Amino acid sequence: MNQDGETDMPEIRKAVQTDRTLLEKMYLKDIENHQERAKAFADDLTLKFKTILGFVDSNLAGSLSWDTRGGLDDGVVEIAGLGVNLAFRRKGVASALMKALIKDAAGFYEENGYRLRVLYLFMEHGNDGGRSFYRSLGFEEVANLPSFYPQDDGVIWLRHLNDTQ
Ligand SMILES: CC(C)(COP(=O)(O)OP(=O)(O)OC[C@H]1O[C@@H](n2cnc3c(N)ncnc32)[C@H](O)[C@@H]1OP(=O)(O)O)[C@@H](O)C(=O)NCCC(=O)NCCS
Repeated sequence: MNQDGETDMPEIRKAVQTDRTLLEKMYLKDIENHQERAKAFADDLTLKFKTILGFVDSNLAGSLSWDTRGGLDDGVVEIAGLGVNLAFRRKGVASALMKALIKDAAGFYEENGYRLRVLYLFMEHGNDGGRSFYRSLGFEEVANLPSFYPQDDGVIWLRHLNDTQ
């Protein structure tokens, strides 16, 4: 909290391997009490994907994992996972994570002489909160994937970036 009793802006940084314990603890407390899946979650976020973490008042509030897809000349990034803990939603954490992703990914492509062109992700069709969130950031729902998930269809959300984004 700041001096006026308002929530501070989320603090954003890249995840590193030493965040595994923090991520495991967060999973066990806020997602489900399952040790193996908590470990797999922490491994995925620190070893498999590039991950950005958001903190509010020093608490781990959310994470966004991403990776490049195809060749560098494609300029395509998949958002593999995005989640904000219930207690910290609607405070701009996911928006700040997305802004950091665009900065990091754009920098990555530029360093290699290319340009970040497209962001995309798969999501459950019935995820209304996710739909509102991605729509608010200029993503478009472009495809339906029947029975993609065990309990729901999937949808693909896409955003094209121009040179100024
Ligand atoms: C979707 C999710 C990541 C949004 O995180 P968040 O930190 O609350 O999002 P933000 O605060 O940055 O929201 C930005 C804007 O998106 C829209 N939005 C976000 N969540 C919304 C919701 N549940 N209902 C309606 N609009 C929503 C609003 O326009 C919001 O701006 P506002 O709060 O000023 O009205 C979060 O609800 C979540 O973790 N959900 C479960 C996991 C998930 O669905 N992940 C995405 C699919 S991979």
